[in-house]
Amino acid sequence: MPKQSPSIKIVDLVEVCRQDRHKFERLFKQAQKIYHASFRSEEKESTACIRRFIWDAARDSGDGSGYRFCYLIPLLGKRVGGMFMFEMIPLPGKSLMAFLGYIAVDRSLRGMGIAKRLIQEFRRFFLAQAKQYKLKPLGGFGEVEKPDLSVADDLRNKIRPGFHHNVCNFGVMTVLTAGNRFKILPYFQPGISRNRGAIEPPVPFLPCIMRVFGKTFRKLPVGAGKVVDHAGQLKLPIKSLPVMNSAVALQMIHGVYNSYREGAEYSKNQIDKLEDNIRRNLEGYRKVYIVPIPDTAYIPLK
Ligand SMILES: CC(C)(COP(=O)(O)OP(=O)(O)OC[C@H]1O[C@@H](n2cnc3c(N)ncnc32)[C@H](O)[C@@H]1OP(=O)(O)O)[C@@H](O)C(=O)NCCC(=O)NCCS
Repeated sequence: MPKQSPSIKIVDLVEVCRQDRHKFERLFKQAQKIYHASFRSEEKESTACIRRFIWDAARDSGDGSGYRFCYLIPLLGKRVGGMFMFEMIPLPGKSLMAFLGYIAVDRSLRGMGIAKRLIQEFRRFFLAQAKQYKLKPLGGFGEVEKPDLSVADDLRNKIRPGFHHNVCNFGVMTVLTAGNRFKILPYFQPGISRNRGAIEPPVPFLPCIMRVFGKTFRKLPVGAGKVVDHAGQLKLPIKSLPVMNSAVALQMIHGVYNSYREGAEYSKNQIDKLEDNIRRNLEGYRKVYIVPIPDTAYIPLK
């Protein structure tokens, strides 16, 4: 049984930063505490870096392109209940994508629908941004940990995949090789540089996409567990699988890696190599097939 939903107000921290620096610092401190308690060190950016992104966004009245860094928090009275960082990135061809960065809810408030509310608010933000800048809303990209059924880990194998599949409607970018076998696009988050010169190794993730058609975020048209059999092979007629053009997939991944290139904490060299690797793996494939996250438990990462 889900716990009862609390009364929540979703607040845009960039807007708060614009209006009241003291209030911003108070709320940001609470939100960053939840962020630091929720993610492993190899995937986290520093608070100084995130504060700079928010300050820049608050100072910036926009370059007219439609780019925007966002940091939303759910407020329960005066208490910050979580955090959600994402970017809206314009792409060539007058389109707009979102890169969903980090979403976390305070441990004691999980399972009450707070993350679901944050995602609903994100959709409203994104579609409004596309409308304001007259851009075509393409959808969102997210980095999701691959389920690993060999370990007993509910957050990894049940809660996160459930949230990303049911609420975000994310699916994984794959190509279909000879013999109807799936291959997941080899996506890595660049390693963060901690000390001058020392860069951590890149972190493997599932490259996930949520699609917008017309002006609506769409659920995946195929259910979890329906696409990939236990041997990693297609178990549906290929026509029923959602697809996207490889060129569009590459454009979105380029948008994401460009966002990392902008950050001071990453190696541009390493990012170039990661992007080249994806490009090479897409050569010869015109289509990218979108597979439900839970099904990827049966596709080995090569
Ligand atoms: C993932 C996370 C953000 C979900 O936040 P939340 O506010 O507890 O989520 P919600 O209550 O809105 O639930 C949303 C969905 O998540 C899944 N979920 C949440 N708690 C779950 C649980 N205990 N068991 C199974 N599924 C669960 C369900 O699919 C749920 O949808 P439903 O209620 O329709 O079944 C939260 O667990 C968290 O902060 N985890 C640590 C950080 C993290 O993993 N972030 C995501 C990766 S970036």
